[in-house]
Amino acid sequence: MIVLGIESSHDDTSIAIVENYKVLFNYKISQIEIHKQHGGTIPEIASREHYNSFYVLLEKIKKNFDLSRIDYVAYTKEPGLIGSLHMGYLFAHAVSLNLNKPIIGINHLEGHLYSTQLFNKEEEKQEIKYPSIGLVVSGGHTNLYLLKSPDNILLIGQTLDDAAGEVYDKVSRTLNLGFPGGPEIDKIFFQQNKNKNKEAYNFSSPKTKNELDFSFSGYKTQIINYVNKNGLKNKDFIAYSFQKNVIDYVISKVNLSIKKYDPKSILLSGGVSANKYLRESFLNLHKNAFIPILEYTTDNGAMVAARAISMLCNK
Ligand code: KG4
Ligand code: ZN
Repeated sequence: MIVLGIESSHDDTSIAIVENYKVLFNYKISQIEIHKQHGGTIPEIASREHYNSFYVLLEKIKKNFDLSRIDYVAYTKEPGLIGSLHMGYLFAHAVSLNLNKPIIGINHLEGHLYSTQLFNKEEEKQEIKYPSIGLVVSGGHTNLYLLKSPDNILLIGQTLDDAAGEVYDKVSRTLNLGFPGGPEIDKIFFQQNKNKNKEAYNFSSPKTKNELDFSFSGYKTQIINYVNKNGLKNKDFIAYSFQKNVIDYVISKVNLSIKKYDPKSILLSGGVSANKYLRESFLNLHKNAFIPILEYTTDNGAMVAARAISMLCNK
């Protein structure tokens, strides 16, 4: 099965061709530099950029691939910025009508979960074993899922306030480390942790009524208070301590869900899944722990196609 995947829910425009989870092409135009100038995503600008980028990417794909070979057109239906989603919807329908191929709408977060299935080379191939536990950690979401089968995915935990990536970005701003915060804090973490198991400052971890829910805003507040009191002279140590505390907290939640549901595999995905310490810790949790290849951690068209394949091949 060959699927054309289209992603435009936020600030990345991406088109991909995926054949049975093997990525043949995955092209992307990021808008991050444009939105950076405004200090955040401007929805109206995002929609206009998607409009321009779709045709650039389509022309690029057409040069390398005969589009009449595809079986399905998949696009991100929800959730996301409404104008951006609309551009994807219209573009996908135009392609589908033009090629006379069926179309399927995809949930973006389920797309992230199935990004773990994407591979570039045969030896990277990995197959989800059900039931599975899946974690999506990104700038907009922190969701924990129980996947009973490709058609039966239940949300079992979510953040009650900020998303994991969002708190990385906010802490980074407090520490003057720039945007996006994740990669910079991750880098400092490993510089500080050269002599493994370096002691960290202990922030208190939040309690939630549903033990599988998350709460991150307390970390942000504790760091702001720490900086107000002590200044920024120890900022590398604070960044190190923040990552140690927050990733250990996320991992403890996945661990709880493993104890509760005894899954046959576990999945990690979303922008924050690029975090090295999270990836290492996650792989140690289960013998079938799957993480996406780095290039598929952020939003992309290939993951949309992957989710479509999981649904269509399960029929
Ligand atoms: O999924 P994503 O690309 O975008 C949206 O949510 O739209 O996630 C972006 C988030 C940002 O908050 C960024 O700081 C975070 O992922 N991120 C990381 C790392 N790389 C990106 N967080 C922690 N460690 C990283 N290495
Ligand atoms: Zn995403």
